[in-house]
Amino acid sequence: MNLGFVGLGSMGHGIASNLVRAGHRVKGFNRTRSKADELEKELEGFRAVGSPAEAARGSDVVFSMLADDAAVEATFLSSEGAAIAGLAPGAVHVSMSTISPAMSTKLETAHRKAGHGYVAAPVLGRPDAAEKAQLVVLAAGAPESIARVKPLLDVVGRKVHVLGDEPKKANVVKLGVNFVLAVMLETLGEAIAMNEEHGIDAKTYLDIANSLLGSKVLEAYGTMIAEDRFRPAGFKVRLGLKDVQLALEAAESVDVPMPLGSVLRDRFIATIAEGKGDLDWSAVARTLPRPNANARARKPQ
Ligand SMILES: NC(=O)c1ccc[n+]([C@@H]2O[C@H](COP(=O)([O-])OP(=O)(O)OC[C@H]3O[C@@H](n4cnc5c(N)ncnc54)[C@H](OP(=O)(O)O)[C@@H]3O)[C@@H](O)[C@H]2O)c1
Repeated sequence: MNLGFVGLGSMGHGIASNLVRAGHRVKGFNRTRSKADELEKELEGFRAVGSPAEAARGSDVVFSMLADDAAVEATFLSSEGAAIAGLAPGAVHVSMSTISPAMSTKLETAHRKAGHGYVAAPVLGRPDAAEKAQLVVLAAGAPESIARVKPLLDVVGRKVHVLGDEPKKANVVKLGVNFVLAVMLETLGEAIAMNEEHGIDAKTYLDIANSLLGSKVLEAYGTMIAEDRFRPAGFKVRLGLKDVQLALEAAESVDVPMPLGSVLRDRFIATIAEGKGDLDWSAVARTLPRPNANARARKPQ
């Protein structure tokens, strides 16, 4: 198929590469052009283009994997050269970014008016999973659009969950999963801090905690926290704050209180205030008041 791809960041790079490797011709746009140019050098079958509209023009399906609502608005709806202007009637937009349910519905409406299909397809999994086509895809949209893009989603993921014909539902599920991950980071940070202040190192605590609470997520993030290893960022703190805020908004819109969400929001803001916005989001677990540790660090040895 002829495909377009908008947003070649940490996640978009792997997803677009896998579509090319599966034999599709992909035209890609990225705001920072060099990332698209590099991919063109790496992969025969990928062509870098100068605007989202160019990526969409002549494409059967255009994918987006962008940071947030503002990036989607700028590249698909409101700028000169927006993708919606280049997409032909009958083509489909697959939106993989973690965006608000409201933005997903706005895209659905705009595409319907233009005669396009629209599928929300946010993903679970980090950039390494994207490179290895091991993502879990949460897809929702009109059945005919889903049927059309399902073979492409199978190329980029190990599992595709179809959540019905209302696109925003896929975005809500994605926010719900990331909310629990963020809560796990906060609780790990609190428990590790308590243990360390009592002289028990993080690794010892984690080995024991994992024997009962063990999950791949806890193990992977626990190790990063214990080793203070937050670079390179798989998923940036800034994007984590965006997801917590989106979860709070989505919950508020249906009168569901999310008290832990408010705690998380402040923890993420405090982490960014410490200059850690571009570190991996597991760095939030190390942004706790540690009066004793700080006092020890200040004490001359
Ligand atoms: N990383 C993960 O583990 C992960 C997992 C699941 C879902 N997600 C979601 O996937 C999406 C992408 O995440 P990522 O980790 O790939 O982030 P990233 O590496 O920061 O990439 C973000 C992409 O959005 C583009 N962008 C940002 N603001 C823009 C704007 N105003 N106009 C046009 N383009 C803009 C960036 O362009 P530039 O290159 O010019 O900055 C880049 O292509 C996010 O919604 C994130 O929440 C991430």
